[in-house]
Amino acid sequence: MTRTLGPQDWGLRADGGGALMFGNFRAVDLARRHGTPLHVIHETRLEQTAFHFRRAFAAAYPGRTSVHYAFKCNSVPAVIQAVRRAGLKAEVMSEFELELALALGYEGRDIVVNGPGKSASFLKKCLESGARLINVDSMSELELLHKTTEEVGQDARILLRINPDHVPRGMNSGTATGSRKGCAFGLDLKGGEAERALAALRDMKRVRFYGYHFHVGTGIREPKEYSRVLERLAPLICRTRRAGLEIKVMDVGGGFASMTTREMTTGEFLVYQGLGRLPSGLPAGPGATFEDFGREIAGALTKLFPEGEPPELVTEPGRCIAGPNQVLLLTVRHVKARPGIRTWIITDGGLGTVTLPTFYEYHEVFLADDVTRPGTRKVTIVGPVCFASDIVYRNKPMPPVRPGEVIAIMDSGAYFTAQESTFGFPRPAVVAVNGARDRLVRRRETFEDMVSRDHLADKSEIEEDTHEIRRH
Ligand SMILES: Cc1ncc(COP(=O)(O)O)c(C=O)c1O
Repeated sequence: MTRTLGPQDWGLRADGGGALMFGNFRAVDLARRHGTPLHVIHETRLEQTAFHFRRAFAAAYPGRTSVHYAFKCNSVPAVIQAVRRAGLKAEVMSEFELELALALGYEGRDIVVNGPGKSASFLKKCLESGARLINVDSMSELELLHKTTEEVGQDARILLRINPDHVPRGMNSGTATGSRKGCAFGLDLKGGEAERALAALRDMKRVRFYGYHFHVGTGIREPKEYSRVLERLAPLICRTRRAGLEIKVMDVGGGFASMTTREMTTGEFLVYQGLGRLPSGLPAGPGATFEDFGREIAGALTKLFPEGEPPELVTEPGRCIAGPNQVLLLTVRHVKARPGIRTWIITDGGLGTVTLPTFYEYHEVFLADDVTRPGTRKVTIVGPVCFASDIVYRNKPMPPVRPGEVIAIMDSGAYFTAQESTFGFPRPAVVAVNGARDRLVRRRETFEDMVSRDHLADKSEIEEDTHEIRRH
């Protein structure tokens, strides 16, 4: 059983003629005014979603809670500012993201730092900016951090990132971030690395242990996946306390699914990429709410810490906040039908625009001109690049579509803008819609932007080259 979604599932609507509307704006008018490909942020709803998440966890848990928005998910400043207004703090994984957080008004005490490849210079900047917590990913990073604290003369507050070897149901063990076989992330729980790190900490005067961190995947639909990981950590938590160390913080990472899209399972992914068979839709039922996730995690933590002050609960959501509050609009350039074989919809945004998400995630695609247009047939939606894998979706059921019409790829807020490339075309503009107001928050890339890192030959060099060519 699958679920059929309509614009209302994203807080949008259709007008009398079936046109997709953002507040007072028709999506097709935004597309015409700003050009496509175009991302449209539903700003009011983004802020509400972030606030809802924060409130749900605060209400469920008896101790302190803080929510650190994962910048890597979508670092468009307008998105970050909206989640900041809702009281979310920052989670960063690079010098770029740290600088961006500071530039947008976050202070060090608002910032949690992740990443498996932190360099000495990044760690130094984290210490100098007073980052709240550094989540240590490996034994060698712990050594490097120790050295850096001594050099800089500043203490570091750390969580140890644990790889619990837990793969959420349906997820690919080759890519699930909490799998010890599939991912390098974190200290290997089964291999005893956490204990080795705790022992090493005894000689590191300026490195202060605050607790544990894990992040076991993205698009997790089932709250129980988090409590299963927490159960797995129970023996380590007992040993830590027996060793006289206080656990002040438990950071359960991000990964909470947006319920209007989903990752393909390993089986579906293989069938889709191998045979072109796109899985159908979303599971029946609305899926778990933020309240459900909050209650499950709070319950599991309360079992682990039944007495005394509970540790602070930190979360690092990205996808569930930004994903459903952004839509990608593409204009159909041509429709090519080869009878008996296939129909292609050729749009102005392909692999460089949609990047990885549509490769392994199911997203709804609407015809923005008329979401009610009847009839579906399977078409392959491609981009403008003459490259065989410039594909948005293979065999996606769509109503009949004409050149000049606009399609809307829903849930483009997570990992689209962050990963897009300039594969022969400029990167898209981003517009934010807030009730009756729309504003351009990121302009479309220009030719000058695209060559800004290159040495472009000047007129005299070009003339010299031309002479050279003629001489040959
Ligand atoms: C350490 C960490 N925290 C948080 C996130 C955000 O995950 P999501 O967008 O699935 O919530 C990620 C994503 O990769 C991550 O690696």
